[in-house]
Formats: sequence, C-alpha cells, structure tokens
Amino acid sequence: MTTALPPGTGDPVDPAKAKPFPSAARYEQALDEIRAAAAAYYAGSDVRMDDDAYDALLARAIATEAAHPAWKPADTPTEAVGAGVAPGTEIPHSTPMLGLDNVFDTESLRKWAARLERVLDHPVTAYTVEPKLDGLAVAARYSRGRLTLVLTRGTGTMGEDVTTRAILAKGLPAKLSSPRTIEVRGEVFMTDEDFRTANELRTGHGEPAFAHPRSAAAGTLRAIDRAYSAPLSFVAYAVQGLADDGTHSKAMAELEKLGVATTSGCKPALKVCRGTEEIEAAVAEIRDLRGSLGFGVDGAVIKADRPEDRDAAGASTKAPRWGVAVKFPADTRSTRLLSIDVQVGRTGVITPVATLEPVFIDGVKVVSATLHNFDDLERRNVRVGDTVFVRRAGDVIPEITGAKLDERPKDAQPFTPPEVCPDCGSEIDRSQIRWRCTGGRACGARKILAHYATREAMDIEGLGGKIIDLLVAEGLVADPADLYDLDVPRLAALDGLGEISGGKLVAAIAGTKKRPLSSLLTGLGIRMAGRAVSRRLARHFGSMDALLAATPEQLQEVEGVGRERAETIAGELAELAGVIAKLEARGLTMTEPDATPPPAAATVLPLRKPDGSPMRVVVTGAVPGLKNRDEGNQAVERLGGTASGSVSAKTDLVVVGEGSGSKADKAAELGVRILPADRFADLLAAHDGGDDTRAAQILAS
Ligand code: IVH
Repeated sequence: MTTALPPGTGDPVDPAKAKPFPSAARYEQALDEIRAAAAAYYAGSDVRMDDDAYDALLARAIATEAAHPAWKPADTPTEAVGAGVAPGTEIPHSTPMLGLDNVFDTESLRKWAARLERVLDHPVTAYTVEPKLDGLAVAARYSRGRLTLVLTRGTGTMGEDVTTRAILAKGLPAKLSSPRTIEVRGEVFMTDEDFRTANELRTGHGEPAFAHPRSAAAGTLRAIDRAYSAPLSFVAYAVQGLADDGTHSKAMAELEKLGVATTSGCKPALKVCRGTEEIEAAVAEIRDLRGSLGFGVDGAVIKADRPEDRDAAGASTKAPRWGVAVKFPADTRSTRLLSIDVQVGRTGVITPVATLEPVFIDGVKVVSATLHNFDDLERRNVRVGDTVFVRRAGDVIPEITGAKLDERPKDAQPFTPPEVCPDCGSEIDRSQIRWRCTGGRACGARKILAHYATREAMDIEGLGGKIIDLLVAEGLVADPADLYDLDVPRLAALDGLGEISGGKLVAAIAGTKKRPLSSLLTGLGIRMAGRAVSRRLARHFGSMDALLAATPEQLQEVEGVGRERAETIAGELAELAGVIAKLEARGLTMTEPDATPPPAAATVLPLRKPDGSPMRVVVTGAVPGLKNRDEGNQAVERLGGTASGSVSAKTDLVVVGEGSGSKADKAAELGVRILPADRFADLLAAHDGGDDTRAAQILAS
C-alpha cells in the first residue's frame, strides 16, 4: 500500500546542495564505496546501491573535493567516466564515450541553458528533449550497412566487445536498409515485460533474480554461455558518419529510416523546443508518462540541436557542454523486510505479500510489496529481516526484486509457505506457479459473504459462518447478490435450518436493501477501501453511478485517497461491476442519504467547469509565492484543474506571469482566457484559506 508524500521529498541530491564529508578518512571510504558500486554496475552484477544513494554519495564526494582540494587523489572516481572501471576484453572506441552532467530541478536546468548560451554568446534557437533510457550505453559500428562491432562504454576510451549478444537486441538491426558506414550510439535496455521473463528464466535455472531491468540488461548483454536468453531492446541517441551538417533531430529521423530504433521514433519521442519553457513542458511530459511506458526512463536529456552550437560548446573530459540530463528520482530503493503475510484473493489465488519498513520511491510512500508467488520467493532467496530492493514502476504494484545477501542478519530464517489455505483450511493446488486454494471461488465467496454480513457492513443477523459454508457448498450463493434470491423453502431444506430461522434470515437479508451506499461499499470488500474510506467515498459521490463514473483523479479528491489507492479502488470497482449490477437489479439502495456535501451542491473547486470536469490550465512565467513550474502545476491541480504544458484550442485558461514567453501570445491568438499571475495567486490564497466563494469571485471577475 502506498500513500502520497508532500512534493519534493524523496528527490535525488543536487551536488550543489550536498554536504562535504567531515574528515579525509570518511571521504576516502566514500570513494571506495563509489568505486565498488560502479564496478558492480558496469560488470553487470546486481545493484549494490540504489541510484539515489549512489548519486548522493557522489554529490558529497564532489562537494568535499571542492571544499578540500588537497584530499583529492589524481584518480578520483568523481572525474572518471564510469568511475574508472574497465570490464573484460577491451577494444578502443573511435572517439571517447562521454557521460552527461545531471541537473535535478528547473532552476539548475535554467542555469545550465543560460551558461551554455553565455559560452556560445548567442541564444540557442533549437534544443531537443528526449527520454533518458535507463540501460547501458553501447557503440555499434556498421560497415557498408552491416553491423560489425558492438562495444560497451567501459572506461569511455576502451569498451568490451558484446556484438554476439547485442545483435539480438530489438531495434539494432544486423543490416541497415542502405549500405552506410556509420557508428550508432545508444542504450541497450530491457522492457518491464522482458525483465519479468528474464527473471522467470533466471530463477528457473536456480540463479538469483535480477533486482532491476538495468542489471538484467547488463547481465544478459555479457552472458555469453548461459543456457537461457532474455530479449534486449536498443534505442539510439547519437550517430556519427551521417550527413555532417544535419541537426541532431534530423540525424535521428534519418537513422530511424535506416531501420535503427531511435529517440525520435520511440514513445515519448524526441521534441525540438525553443526556450526553457518549452523544454520544461517537454520534460514534464516525459516525467508524467514515465510510469506507463513499459520500460525504464530515469530522466530527460536536453541537447543543443544544431551542430554549430555543439561544436562551439565542446566538452570537458567527462561530459559535453551541449547536453545535460534532468534526472528523475530512482524507481528502486532498498529497505527492510519486516514480515511476509499470505493473502488469499477473491478467486482463491494465494500470494505472499511483504510488509516493509516505509520507504519513499518516486515521491510515494511504500509500505508493502508483492512477492509474486512462493516459487519466486524461494528462488529470490528473500527472508524476513533482509534489506531488500523494492521497485515501483508507475502504476504497477511495488515489487521486491531481491535481497542484499551481504547484509542478511545471521538469524534470518527462510520463509515456510503454508500447508493449507490460511483462510478456509482447504488443500492448496501447487501444480501451477500461482498457488490456488482448492476451495477456489468458494473460498473467496465464503470470505466475501462473511465480510458482507458483518455489523460494520450490511449487518445481516443470522448469517454466520456455518450457514455461509452450507449456502456455498450447496451452490446456492456465489456472491452477495445471490443472497437476495434465497427463499424460505430453499433455506428450510438446508441441514439444521428450519422454516422459522429460514424465514427470519430471508427477512434480515431483505431488510438490508435499505442500507445506505456506504454500508454496501464496505460490504463489497474493495481493496484499500475499508469502512472509513467507503463512508467518505459514499458521502463524496453520493451515488453508485457517480462513483462508478469517477476517474482515479476524481477519486483522489476524497480525503485519504492518494494515487495508488485511487487506482486500486477504480480497478476493484471495474472488477465488481457485474456484482454491483446484480445488486442494483435486486433493489438495493445505491445512494447515500446524508452525503455531505450533497452531490448536487458539492463544493465546486474553482478550476472546475460547470459539468464538474477539470479546466485545462497552462501556467507560464512566474507566479508570486510559487517557486517553480512544478509548484504552479500542483496549485492548478489543488484548485481542481489539469495542468498542461502547452497552449492549444483545448486550453481553458492561461496564467501569465513575469517572464512568460510565446505561450501568452499563443493564448491571445487562440482567444484563450488569460489570468494574470497575481490574480491567480489571490485565487490560490482564497482557496487555501477555505474561501472558495471568494476564489470563484476572483475567477469570475
Ligand atoms: S546523450 C556524450 N541521450 O545516459 C554523451 N544519453 O548519464 C551523450 N542515456 O552515457 C549521451 N538516454 O548511456 C544521451 N537520450 C539519451 C540517453 C542517454 C540514456 C545514457 C547514456 C549516457 C548516460 C549519461
């Protein structure tokens, strides 16, 4: 389960704000840790440190070197590409493979662009923004259209020959559509789906699972003699040897035509931008899409598009000055595994679920994660007490991908899976990867019916465990709606239930048709919606129809409902649609009598249209009291709107502040309503102070 975190927490450390180490000894120890983590990374062994921990350590080492230059050794890993690690067989690169400098927020991105334009002594008229793929850099040489050599980045000047494996990567063809002699540089990575396949294959061969798609890609790329193979993918982000005078964006499009997958053909695709506002909007778009791409993106890369600008900007020994990476927070973190519980789902599937010491991943607090299945749990060799890697990829339920074996407590015991179904005591069917209770749906039905009948839900007197067992065993009831089809003769025929008790039960069941929506919702046993949340949902939406029509964003308007809870609830409601329709057909109450505020008069957020849908709002330029674009977007969402990066005919409102650029002109051109930033600040202050009437007046004036 996850809950939202105030914005900003859990973000990576910006080197400019990092604290130097207090002593030379502590600094040297940090350098050793950096070298070891980088060696593990480049050798394709599993994650030794999560990305943010690595970046934080590196940031502190760099800060220490600035404060105490005398402590800095000549071979400091902070200045070496890949922290100075050289794996296996080496072949020289045609030109050094450099890295990129990182920035972590809008302000540093603006500073970077300003510095570049100062160095060039003119504004950069075209930048490109593209996803930063989370994999391994390779250089692929084509000779007269044939792929002849693929090298890893290695030390930057020497790389390892991985041609035999890389040639299998989707997107890196063995033959180009035209006989060109070029060198393509790009990222080899593993999609989330292929990562799961890779781990199934790997654990099936008795090897520990990979903790992250990046380590899976690294391992697969270098695994020459393994009996299994998992698919790799490739996307190019640079090319040498195509028309020299072309821009980066044109070169990528041309390369795509030759049959190579590139950042211009992938989704989200490379965009050409003018000025920092457009860059920021494109970065925000990549950040928003991040969770739904099906592959890892750990940032966005900004580059000067024109070759003249790149040549003039040049490079340091480590990174070019014409490009920069905006890093997103890591999607994998480590934390302690507190307990493993066994859950039986509605359809009888039995799953191990981990309870974790809370950890923030990409701004979301994660306290539990799936361990998939018992085979996987055993193969992954995960134990209670272990420090484990937890990965959260977008909307997918957080998962434990592995344990840090060198940090395992001495007394940690392997987990013992249950012998019988923990819910109903039936045998467990272990013939498939997902174990099932042989009670199947009946096991789930028992649990659901028992919950439906509890006092805090529909409160059905006389419907106890024994009768539920009988009803399910006789096939009379499979879901709560079936209860309303029971009649006295059928009940009276059951063992131990006479006509009188049968009659009472039928009456008790019929009596629940009047119960409010909040009780019914509680009774349906929606995951992540217990009694309190069900009540809040019922009060907020007022009717089942309104609740079923709500988007996850609208569900989040309910107190205590964050992103993941909203998505889970929406998914559960969709799954329960059939039962809900059956219940409605049987005359159950589908409304909440004391919905507060009642649905028609629900507090209307200022940036809502009359039909309740959110206004599309673009904030351009500075807003008094707000630090950056992110805060502007958050304010829009707080006010009930949807923040958008670009102005189009669909935009409802453009907030224009100092330093706004072409967007204000575009809004005027399209006739989109403009609100001065200081009015917007007043509007926000009124809303945050609880005075939405005043907020509405500001908007109306
Ligand atoms: S451009 C001179 N573009 O990120 C370096 N790099 O942190 C040019 N990466 O070494 C690199 N996606 O392995 C570039 N769209 C992209 C990228 C990208 C991923 C990797 C690449 C690079 C590392 C730098």
